[in-house]
Amino acid sequence: METIVSPSILAADFNILGEQIQEVEKSGAKYLHIDVMDGLFVPSISFGMPVIASIRKQTKLFFDVHLMIVEPIRYVEEFAGLGADLITIHLEAATGHVEETLDKIHTLGCKTGLSIKPATPVSELEPYLDKTDMILIMTVEPGFGGQKYISASTEKIRETRRLLKQHGLEVDVQVDGGITVDNVSLVKEAGANVIVAGSAVFRGDIRENVRTLLERGTLS
Ligand code: DX5
Ligand code: ZN
Repeated sequence: METIVSPSILAADFNILGEQIQEVEKSGAKYLHIDVMDGLFVPSISFGMPVIASIRKQTKLFFDVHLMIVEPIRYVEEFAGLGADLITIHLEAATGHVEETLDKIHTLGCKTGLSIKPATPVSELEPYLDKTDMILIMTVEPGFGGQKYISASTEKIRETRRLLKQHGLEVDVQVDGGITVDNVSLVKEAGANVIVAGSAVFRGDIRENVRTLLERGTLS
């Protein structure tokens, strides 16, 4: 499957966000990862609708919107209207209506992602594997950028890819949190093909960082 890098703007310099997004456009990254936090599902609050509306006017990058909010069904229509291309919800935040939320996102014309936190077992994803375009395995506790990769995640990525193969499904597997040029080969080898990176993209030279994340093979 094609490897895609999705730079997380949570790590961008918001004073020059527009310029940094232009750099991302030139870098070979196809997605832009947009973290929305509500201060309830996760302890932090990031940014919301006005920021997304403003950057949507400026770029054609694929908007990969990661909703870390409780009851995301309340807001998916609004995010779709703002120009999200893919909306990821958390399994833990949508108890009782995971399928309904995924269906609603599809009806709105967007792709779907379904995410689990580090403590949630992969087996809980099983009922939804054929109902989503992407699975997001969180490789840190969601809520903040710049954390260290949780090494137990590697086995979860492997297990997810194994399960998808068993079901004959070619679904994207995204990883998010603590991904660097040093561990990107490991997560690719385990089966991830959509790579979120915040600090590892925006610290230093954006174009060079993305190129390295894309090029690092699964054997190096
Ligand atoms: C964390 C967010 C991540 C974060 C990743 O809750 O979902 O997308 O921005 O940042 P890094 O790559 O710095 O760990
Ligand atoms: Zn994220």
